[in-house]
Amino acid sequence: MQLKGKNVLITGGTRGIGKCMVQNLIKEGVTNIAIIARDKQNLKQLSEEYKEVDFIRIAGDVANIQVLRDAAARIEDKWGHLDILINNAGIVAAGPLEDIQDEDLYDQVAVNLTAVMLLTKYCIPLLRFSEDAYILNISSGLGLIGMPFYAVYGSTKAAIRQFSDSMRRELAPFKISVTCAFPTATDTEMMQKFKGRKMDSPEFVAVRSIQGMLNKEIRVIFGGEERLKENRLNFEAPAELDMLVAQNYEQRKTASLDHKAV
Ligand SMILES: NC(=O)c1ccc[n+]([C@@H]2O[C@H](COP(=O)([O-])OP(=O)(O)OC[C@H]3O[C@@H](n4cnc5c(N)ncnc54)[C@H](OP(=O)(O)O)[C@@H]3O)[C@@H](O)[C@H]2O)c1
Repeated sequence: MQLKGKNVLITGGTRGIGKCMVQNLIKEGVTNIAIIARDKQNLKQLSEEYKEVDFIRIAGDVANIQVLRDAAARIEDKWGHLDILINNAGIVAAGPLEDIQDEDLYDQVAVNLTAVMLLTKYCIPLLRFSEDAYILNISSGLGLIGMPFYAVYGSTKAAIRQFSDSMRRELAPFKISVTCAFPTATDTEMMQKFKGRKMDSPEFVAVRSIQGMLNKEIRVIFGGEERLKENRLNFEAPAELDMLVAQNYEQRKTASLDHKAV
Protein backbone atom coordinates (compact mmCIF):
# COMPACT_ATOMS: atom_id res chain seq x y z
CA MET A 1 0.00 0.00 0.00
CA GLN A 2 1.35 3.39 -1.05
CA LEU A 3 1.07 6.07 1.64
CA LYS A 4 1.68 8.79 -0.92
CA GLY A 5 -1.52 10.69 -1.69
CA LYS A 6 -3.38 9.51 1.42
CA ASN A 7 -5.43 11.84 3.63
CA VAL A 8 -4.62 11.31 7.30
CA LEU A 9 -6.22 12.52 10.54
CA ILE A 10 -4.27 11.98 13.77
CA THR A 11 -5.01 13.11 17.31
CA GLY A 12 -2.05 14.16 19.43
CA GLY A 13 0.34 14.36 16.50
CA THR A 14 2.45 17.12 18.00
CA ARG A 15 4.50 15.27 20.64
CA GLY A 16 5.71 11.79 21.58
CA ILE A 17 4.55 8.76 19.62
CA GLY A 18 2.06 10.83 17.60
CA LYS A 19 4.69 13.28 16.37
CA CYS A 20 6.93 10.36 15.36
CA MET A 21 4.01 8.88 13.41
CA VAL A 22 3.50 12.20 11.62
CA GLN A 23 7.22 12.32 10.78
CA ASN A 24 7.13 8.75 9.51
CA LEU A 25 4.07 9.45 7.34
CA ILE A 26 5.77 12.52 5.85
CA LYS A 27 8.91 10.48 5.16
CA GLU A 28 6.71 7.99 3.28
CA GLY A 29 5.28 10.76 1.10
CA VAL A 30 2.05 11.78 2.86
CA THR A 31 1.27 15.46 2.28
CA ASN A 32 -2.31 15.79 3.60
CA ILE A 33 -2.30 15.59 7.38
CA ALA A 34 -4.94 16.85 9.82
CA ILE A 35 -3.85 17.04 13.45
CA ILE A 36 -5.88 17.67 16.59
CA ALA A 37 -3.93 18.84 19.67
CA ARG A 38 -4.41 21.54 22.29
CA ASP A 39 -1.13 23.44 22.03
CA LYS A 40 -1.31 25.87 19.08
CA GLN A 41 2.39 26.59 19.20
CA ASN A 42 3.35 22.94 18.65
CA LEU A 43 0.94 22.73 15.71
CA LYS A 44 2.40 25.87 14.16
CA GLN A 45 5.93 24.59 14.66
CA LEU A 46 5.13 21.40 12.74
CA SER A 47 3.81 23.39 9.76
CA GLU A 48 6.93 25.53 9.80
CA GLU A 49 9.13 22.44 9.98
CA TYR A 50 7.38 20.66 7.09
CA LYS A 51 6.45 23.34 4.57
CA GLU A 52 5.77 20.72 1.88
CA VAL A 53 2.86 19.31 3.93
CA ASP A 54 -0.68 20.64 3.67
CA PHE A 55 -1.69 20.53 7.32
CA ILE A 56 -5.19 20.98 8.70
CA ARG A 57 -4.34 22.29 12.17
CA ILE A 58 -7.12 21.75 14.67
CA ALA A 59 -6.18 23.41 17.95
CA GLY A 60 -8.55 21.98 20.51
CA ASP A 61 -9.34 19.41 23.16
CA VAL A 62 -10.55 16.02 21.93
CA ALA A 63 -12.79 15.92 25.00
CA ASN A 64 -14.80 18.74 23.39
CA ILE A 65 -17.43 17.22 21.06
CA GLN A 66 -17.56 20.37 18.92
CA VAL A 67 -13.81 20.14 18.21
CA LEU A 68 -14.31 16.61 16.86
CA ARG A 69 -17.34 17.58 14.76
CA ASP A 70 -15.48 20.57 13.32
CA ALA A 71 -12.46 18.39 12.51
CA ALA A 72 -14.61 15.99 10.46
CA ALA A 73 -16.39 18.93 8.78
CA ARG A 74 -13.11 20.63 7.82
CA ILE A 75 -11.76 17.39 6.35
CA GLU A 76 -14.93 16.85 4.35
CA ASP A 77 -14.79 20.42 3.00
CA LYS A 78 -11.12 20.30 2.10
CA TRP A 79 -10.44 16.69 1.04
CA GLY A 80 -13.89 15.14 0.58
CA HIS A 81 -12.74 11.89 2.15
CA LEU A 82 -10.32 10.38 4.66
CA ASP A 83 -8.02 7.37 4.19
CA ILE A 84 -6.40 6.96 7.61
CA LEU A 85 -7.66 7.82 11.11
CA ILE A 86 -5.15 7.50 13.95
CA ASN A 87 -6.63 7.78 17.45
CA ASN A 88 -3.48 8.47 19.42
CA ALA A 89 -4.03 11.32 21.92
CA GLY A 90 -4.08 10.06 25.48
CA ILE A 91 -3.57 11.17 29.07
CA VAL A 92 -2.73 9.39 32.31
CA ALA A 93 -3.34 10.08 35.99
CA ALA A 94 -2.25 7.09 38.08
CA GLY A 95 -2.33 6.22 41.78
CA PRO A 96 -4.67 4.40 44.17
CA LEU A 97 -8.25 4.87 42.96
CA GLU A 98 -9.33 6.64 46.15
CA ASP A 99 -6.62 9.28 45.61
CA ILE A 100 -7.29 10.03 41.94
CA GLN A 101 -9.02 13.37 41.58
CA ASP A 102 -12.58 13.04 40.27
CA GLU A 103 -11.81 15.44 37.39
CA ASP A 104 -8.79 13.35 36.36
CA LEU A 105 -10.96 10.24 36.33
CA TYR A 106 -13.54 11.91 34.10
CA ASP A 107 -10.90 13.41 31.82
CA GLN A 108 -9.11 10.10 31.25
CA VAL A 109 -12.40 8.51 30.17
CA ALA A 110 -13.27 11.55 28.00
CA VAL A 111 -9.89 11.82 26.23
CA ASN A 112 -8.79 8.17 26.06
CA LEU A 113 -12.17 6.60 25.30
CA THR A 114 -15.18 8.84 24.58
CA ALA A 115 -13.24 11.00 22.11
CA VAL A 116 -12.02 7.91 20.24
CA MET A 117 -15.56 6.58 19.86
CA LEU A 118 -17.00 9.94 18.79
CA LEU A 119 -14.22 10.83 16.35
CA THR A 120 -14.44 7.37 14.79
CA LYS A 121 -18.20 7.83 14.47
CA TYR A 122 -17.76 11.20 12.71
CA CYS A 123 -15.04 9.83 10.43
CA ILE A 124 -16.71 6.64 9.21
CA PRO A 125 -18.70 8.44 6.48
CA LEU A 126 -15.42 10.04 5.30
CA LEU A 127 -13.51 6.74 5.43
CA ARG A 128 -16.22 4.98 3.43
CA PHE A 129 -15.30 7.17 0.46
CA SER A 130 -11.72 5.89 0.54
CA GLU A 131 -10.72 3.02 -1.72
CA ASP A 132 -8.75 1.44 1.12
CA ALA A 133 -9.22 2.93 4.58
CA TYR A 134 -7.44 2.31 7.86
CA ILE A 135 -8.12 3.03 11.52
CA LEU A 136 -5.24 2.76 14.00
CA ASN A 137 -6.14 2.97 17.70
CA ILE A 138 -3.41 3.38 20.29
CA SER A 139 -4.22 1.39 23.41
CA SER A 140 -1.58 0.29 25.94
CA GLY A 141 -0.09 -2.84 27.48
CA LEU A 142 -2.20 -1.79 30.47
CA GLY A 143 -5.24 -2.37 28.25
CA LEU A 144 -4.35 -6.07 28.15
CA ILE A 145 -3.53 -6.61 31.83
CA GLY A 146 -5.21 -4.72 34.68
CA MET A 147 -2.48 -3.40 36.95
CA PRO A 148 -2.90 -1.84 40.39
CA PHE A 149 -2.83 1.97 40.50
CA TYR A 150 -3.75 2.19 36.82
CA ALA A 151 -7.38 1.10 37.20
CA VAL A 152 -8.82 4.13 35.39
CA TYR A 153 -6.18 4.51 32.66
CA GLY A 154 -6.07 0.73 32.11
CA SER A 155 -9.85 0.52 31.89
CA THR A 156 -9.97 3.20 29.20
CA LYS A 157 -7.27 1.36 27.26
CA ALA A 158 -8.97 -2.04 27.67
CA ALA A 159 -12.12 -0.41 26.31
CA ILE A 160 -10.12 0.72 23.27
CA ARG A 161 -9.20 -2.92 22.66
CA GLN A 162 -12.87 -3.94 22.83
CA PHE A 163 -13.93 -0.98 20.69
CA SER A 164 -11.32 -1.92 18.08
CA ASP A 165 -12.51 -5.55 17.97
CA SER A 166 -16.15 -4.45 17.65
CA MET A 167 -15.44 -1.87 14.96
CA ARG A 168 -13.26 -4.26 12.98
CA ARG A 169 -16.16 -6.68 12.80
CA GLU A 170 -18.74 -3.95 12.24
CA LEU A 171 -16.75 -2.40 9.39
CA ALA A 172 -15.86 -5.72 7.77
CA PRO A 173 -18.32 -5.22 4.87
CA PHE A 174 -16.53 -1.96 4.01
CA LYS A 175 -12.93 -1.49 3.00
CA ILE A 176 -11.97 -0.12 6.42
CA SER A 177 -9.45 -2.12 8.44
CA VAL A 178 -8.95 -1.59 12.18
CA THR A 179 -5.64 -2.12 13.99
CA CYS A 180 -5.05 -1.69 17.71
CA ALA A 181 -1.53 -1.05 19.06
CA PHE A 182 -0.46 -1.83 22.62
CA PRO A 183 2.75 0.03 23.48
CA THR A 184 4.54 -0.66 26.75
CA ALA A 185 6.69 2.00 28.45
CA THR A 186 7.78 4.42 25.71
CA ASP A 187 10.17 7.30 26.19
CA THR A 188 7.88 10.34 25.83
CA GLU A 189 6.76 13.24 28.02
CA MET A 190 4.03 10.97 29.38
CA MET A 191 6.81 8.87 30.96
CA GLN A 192 9.05 11.74 32.11
CA LYS A 193 9.22 10.52 35.68
CA PHE A 194 10.40 7.05 34.64
CA LYS A 195 13.58 8.35 32.95
CA GLY A 196 16.36 5.80 33.24
CA ARG A 197 14.03 2.80 33.06
CA LYS A 198 14.31 0.65 29.95
CA MET A 199 11.78 1.99 27.47
CA ASP A 200 10.95 1.71 23.78
CA SER A 201 11.73 4.77 21.67
CA PRO A 202 8.71 6.68 20.33
CA GLU A 203 10.20 6.37 16.83
CA PHE A 204 10.19 2.57 17.07
CA VAL A 205 6.62 2.43 18.43
CA ALA A 206 5.42 4.85 15.74
CA VAL A 207 7.02 3.04 12.79
CA ARG A 208 6.00 -0.43 13.98
CA SER A 209 2.40 0.68 14.66
CA ILE A 210 2.05 2.23 11.20
CA GLN A 211 3.58 -0.87 9.64
CA GLY A 212 1.06 -3.01 11.56
CA MET A 213 -1.77 -0.79 10.35
CA LEU A 214 -0.66 -1.06 6.71
CA ASN A 215 -0.31 -4.86 7.05
CA LYS A 216 -3.87 -4.87 8.47
CA GLU A 217 -2.61 -6.60 11.61
CA ILE A 218 -5.35 -6.87 14.22
CA ARG A 219 -3.06 -6.23 17.19
CA VAL A 220 0.44 -4.81 17.48
CA ILE A 221 1.73 -5.81 20.90
CA PHE A 222 4.97 -4.31 22.20
CA GLY A 223 7.19 -5.62 25.01
CA GLY A 224 8.44 -8.78 23.33
CA GLU A 225 8.11 -12.38 24.49
CA GLU A 226 8.02 -11.40 28.17
CA ARG A 227 4.87 -9.34 27.65
CA LEU A 228 3.20 -12.11 25.61
CA LYS A 229 3.96 -14.59 28.41
CA GLU A 230 2.43 -12.25 30.99
CA ASN A 231 -0.66 -11.79 28.83
CA ARG A 232 -1.09 -15.57 28.63
CA LEU A 233 -0.62 -15.95 32.38
CA ASN A 234 -3.18 -13.20 33.03
CA PHE A 235 -5.70 -15.04 30.89
CA GLU A 236 -5.00 -18.63 31.93
CA ALA A 237 -3.95 -18.29 35.58
CA PRO A 238 -4.75 -14.75 36.83
CA ALA A 239 -4.18 -15.77 40.48
CA GLU A 240 -0.55 -16.60 39.63
CA LEU A 241 -0.05 -13.16 38.14
CA ASP A 242 -1.69 -11.66 41.25
CA MET A 243 1.08 -13.23 43.33
CA LEU A 244 3.82 -11.87 41.08
CA VAL A 245 2.31 -8.37 41.12
CA ALA A 246 1.94 -8.51 44.93
CA GLN A 247 5.71 -9.07 45.29
CA ASN A 248 6.46 -5.45 44.42
CA TYR A 249 3.20 -3.83 45.48
CA GLU A 250 4.79 -0.94 47.40
CA GLN A 251 7.27 -0.15 44.61
CA ARG A 252 4.44 -0.02 42.09
CA LYS A 253 2.39 2.21 44.37
CA THR A 254 5.26 4.65 44.97
CA ALA A 255 6.08 4.82 41.27
CA SER A 256 2.46 5.58 40.39
CA LEU A 257 1.96 8.38 42.91
CA ASP A 258 3.05 11.29 40.75
CA HIS A 259 2.58 9.68 37.36
CA LYS A 260 0.37 12.28 35.83
CA ALA A 261 0.39 13.68 32.28
CA VAL A 262 -2.96 15.32 31.55
N1 LIG B 1 4.40 6.71 26.54
C1 LIG B 1 4.05 5.50 26.94
O1 LIG B 1 4.78 4.86 27.71
C2 LIG B 1 2.79 4.87 26.44
C3 LIG B 1 2.58 3.51 26.70
C4 LIG B 1 1.40 2.92 26.27
C5 LIG B 1 0.47 3.65 25.56
N2 LIG B 1 0.69 4.98 25.32
C6 LIG B 1 -0.35 5.71 24.59
O2 LIG B 1 0.22 6.27 23.43
C7 LIG B 1 -0.46 7.48 23.08
C8 LIG B 1 0.55 8.61 22.90
O3 LIG B 1 1.25 8.77 24.13
P1 LIG B 1 2.58 9.63 24.25
O4 LIG B 1 3.41 8.96 25.28
O5 LIG B 1 3.13 9.92 22.92
O6 LIG B 1 1.98 10.96 24.93
P2 LIG B 1 2.56 12.45 25.00
O7 LIG B 1 4.00 12.49 24.66
O8 LIG B 1 2.09 12.97 26.30
O9 LIG B 1 1.76 13.18 23.80
C9 LIG B 1 0.38 13.24 23.85
C10 LIG B 1 -0.16 13.92 22.61
O10 LIG B 1 -1.60 13.94 22.70
C11 LIG B 1 -2.06 15.29 22.69
N3 LIG B 1 -3.17 15.40 23.62
C12 LIG B 1 -3.19 15.05 24.94
N4 LIG B 1 -4.37 15.33 25.49
C13 LIG B 1 -5.13 15.89 24.50
C14 LIG B 1 -6.45 16.42 24.45
N5 LIG B 1 -7.21 16.44 25.53
N6 LIG B 1 -6.90 16.91 23.27
C15 LIG B 1 -6.11 16.91 22.17
N7 LIG B 1 -4.86 16.41 22.16
C16 LIG B 1 -4.37 15.93 23.31
C17 LIG B 1 -0.83 16.13 23.11
O11 LIG B 1 -0.89 17.46 22.62
P3 LIG B 1 -1.44 18.69 23.52
O12 LIG B 1 -0.90 18.51 24.90
O13 LIG B 1 -0.97 19.91 22.82
O14 LIG B 1 -2.93 18.57 23.48
C18 LIG B 1 0.29 15.35 22.47
O15 LIG B 1 0.39 15.70 21.11
C19 LIG B 1 -1.46 7.74 24.23
O16 LIG B 1 -2.73 7.28 23.87
C20 LIG B 1 -0.90 6.91 25.36
O17 LIG B 1 -1.90 6.53 26.28
C21 LIG B 1 1.83 5.60 25.73
